[in-house]
Amino acid sequence: MAKILVIGGAGYIGSHVVLELLEKNHQVVVFDNLSTGQRENLFDEAEFIEGDILDFEKLKNAMKQNIDVVIHLAAKKAVGESMEKPAIYASNNITGSINILNAMLEANVKNIVFSSSAAVYGMPQYLPIDEKHIKNPINFYGYTKSLIEDLIVWYSKLKDINYVIFRYFNAVGYDSLKRVKGKEKNPQNLLPIIMEVATQKRDSFQIYGNDYNTKDGTCERDYIHVSDLAVAHEKAVQKLMEKNGSHILNLGTGKGTSVQEIVDSSEKIISQKLSYSYAPRRSGDPAVLVASSDLAHKVLNWKPKYTNIEDIIQTTWNMEKNNG
Ligand code: UFG
Repeated sequence: MAKILVIGGAGYIGSHVVLELLEKNHQVVVFDNLSTGQRENLFDEAEFIEGDILDFEKLKNAMKQNIDVVIHLAAKKAVGESMEKPAIYASNNITGSINILNAMLEANVKNIVFSSSAAVYGMPQYLPIDEKHIKNPINFYGYTKSLIEDLIVWYSKLKDINYVIFRYFNAVGYDSLKRVKGKEKNPQNLLPIIMEVATQKRDSFQIYGNDYNTKDGTCERDYIHVSDLAVAHEKAVQKLMEKNGSHILNLGTGKGTSVQEIVDSSEKIISQKLSYSYAPRRSGDPAVLVASSDLAHKVLNWKPKYTNIEDIIQTTWNMEKNNG
């Protein structure tokens, strides 16, 4: 059992991570500014500190209670927005992360699990993408993640910080027991947008491009269930507590699912036709993005439980039905 500070623990991925940690009997403190995180994603068993990662003193105080591991999931994450408002991403993602690392030094916290992203790779040079693939982000969001990774690696060399950096592919789904209640506001990703159309919050959506060189002409992505991500975080905590080195690991399923397949499966699961049209390609979208997660399997003995996209979409639809 460890004492863990989950920064961004009220967010979409953070709340699932907290659930898994509590399930494995860890002691959890959530630190979140509730900007995109939501109060309804907090659980009674975890302590809550409302705070911002730009507030260095508050961070430092939060860490000064014998924290074993920091899990850092607090970030702005909308790719398009990051290109229009780089200052927000620089300050929240980069300055915020520097604050976290410096607070760890002051409070003598030695372990961090960091949420990075497949966005650090940019356009794939080969598939599936493994961790040796060159980092060459093509959007500012991906650049912030790449830079923070490098900072963590430097702090590790200079100050004995141990880390597990996770590069998530496309996180989707919800807790199958429906314990996570807060839906993301203003979702920017495919499946949450589809859910908004299914529940009449939006009239329709667009499929960006159907002329790619893929199985059906639409983009393929590696959709990984958020509860599988959560399990990997708990395993990373164990790994760090055993003082078993530092690692950079992809988290994906290794399987590509096309946008069209997501749409068709969603229509089947929700038993209704969705209103959508085909639009031109979105700039910066690679045709296919699929992970090799062999290293995560080897290092953490982790494998995703959810390998069928319909099961994943079903968990999203169940949550949607539950929380309207
Ligand atoms: N898409 C549509 N219509 C929409 C929204 C998305 O056709 O309205 C398509 C996109 O073009 C893409 C696929 O659905 O082909 C998935 O798009 P998302 O916006 O849901 O996700 P991305 O693959 O662009 O990016 C996501 C995260 C990034 C992360 C990346 C890693 O948003 O932060 O996965 O693979 F880096």
